[in-house]
Amino acid sequence: MEGITDRSFRKLVVETNPSFIGAVCTEFVRITQPPLSVEKLKLELGEKFEGPVHGIQLMGNNSQMLAESARNAAEAGADFVDLNFGCPAPRVLQHCAGSALLDDPPGMEKIISAVVQSCPVPVTAKIRAGGDDDSNLEDIAQRVEQAGATALCVHGRLRKEKYTDPCAWNRIQRAVEAVTIPVIGNGGVDTHADIERMRSETGCPAVMIGRAALSNPWIFSGENPKRETRIEWLKSYANRMEEGSANPTQALGRLKQAVKYMANARQLVLANGLAFSLRSPTKEALFESLS
Ligand SMILES: Cc1cc2nc3c(=O)[nH]c(=O)nc-3n(C[C@H](O)[C@H](O)[C@H](O)COP(=O)(O)O)c2cc1C
Repeated sequence: MEGITDRSFRKLVVETNPSFIGAVCTEFVRITQPPLSVEKLKLELGEKFEGPVHGIQLMGNNSQMLAESARNAAEAGADFVDLNFGCPAPRVLQHCAGSALLDDPPGMEKIISAVVQSCPVPVTAKIRAGGDDDSNLEDIAQRVEQAGATALCVHGRLRKEKYTDPCAWNRIQRAVEAVTIPVIGNGGVDTHADIERMRSETGCPAVMIGRAALSNPWIFSGENPKRETRIEWLKSYANRMEEGSANPTQALGRLKQAVKYMANARQLVLANGLAFSLRSPTKEALFESLS
């Protein structure tokens, strides 16, 4: 999740839930002009590790730049390339990328086709159920399949619904029924039990978890560790970010996001309240505030 997670988060979450996670993917990488180089894409991907397949997610609206970047992503080591048609951020919409393309299903199909044709690894697409309504959902899903994508991830919310609850899972079921490629369900999976519930209610073979992976990194296995273990997890995350490429300000910002998500989801009780912890000027002060 762009701005709040990174490659060290993905690796740590996989290690926290051994054998429960089949695929991991980078945050979106915005593609304009020129295409992104193999070196930059390698940095986004980070070091690959045992277990899941590793994807790089690209977002943009220029099919040629996306196609070349996808080829570079494969050369950088991506096992698959995912195309983002779900982001509702105003800055992204201004540039007619992300979920803006849901309003132009033929244009979206052309982009996916161009990427599939030039990319030597499987290409997948992530969509929302629609922009302002879900009337084009089946058409969009079928175009994704027709363009050659090997899997489709459907976030059940509309663009206009942003991240509000509830997320209508019946839309995921509609996509499952509309295509023959595997549909990965996404949106509103907040507990371990929700994983199985989404699969049985919608028929999707796999589930993608967004924010709850941050608020409860044990959601995949269903373990429920004690408070100290959660704090130890945060310490490992902080150390790994520092060992990786995040600068101290970025690392502290992401650490605070994790604390905020955990506290808001009541997965971590904060001795001195959230506002106090979030004011911490250093990671040491932050951990002090938790104790
Ligand atoms: C801050 C933030 C950043 C996100 N960044 C990405 C992103 O880079 N790529 C992506 O596919 N989805 C991104 N998402 C969307 C999530 O992956 C997910 O589709 C959405 O939150 C719904 O799933 P959830 O209810 O399990 O969180 C982001 C969401 C948030 C809140």
